Amino acid sequence: MRGVFVLFLALSLSYADSFITKEEYASGLYHNPRGIGCQLCHGESGEGKLIARYKDKGEMKIFAGAPIKKLSFKDFDEKVNSRIVGMPRYYLTDSEIQILYYYLHREEFARAAQKHRKTP
Ligand code: HEC
Repeated sequence: MRGVFVLFLALSLSYADSFITKEEYASGLYHNPRGIGCQLCHGESGEGKLIARYKDKGEMKIFAGAPIKKLSFKDFDEKVNSRIVGMPRYYLTDSEIQILYYYLHREEFARAAQKHRKTP
């Protein structure tokens, strides 16, 4: 958790002097990265989503976006730019990947920050 908190602090600093808030930027990027929003296939909060059911050689199949909310940062970072069947390749930058990860975990970050402030 400590590493995640440090990441949160680093992100807070880098957005301190921009015109839109970090939350707005993070939400904008999740919903419209290179024109195709992550939520279309992974759901509003990264919980995963059933995209389609179809029949293949008489067998019912499903096409779904995996849940991405519970991945560690390491796994998310490694997978998000890899070649994945059914997913557009975005070629995201390191800071875009960090802010997308932040977006999926923003409630935990807020709770962690609040807890941190409460301790004397
Ligand atoms: C057109 C649909 C689609 C869009 C849009 C999309 N993905 Fe995916 N994504 C997929 C599919 C399909 C998989 C593979 C699912 C599986 O293996 O079960 C996947 C897998 C992933 C994985 C790996 C999950 C794992 O546990 O292996 C990550 C991380 C991911 N997507 C993140 C993102 C992010 C972040 C965005 C937006 C920048 C995004 N995806 C946009 C369809 C999509």
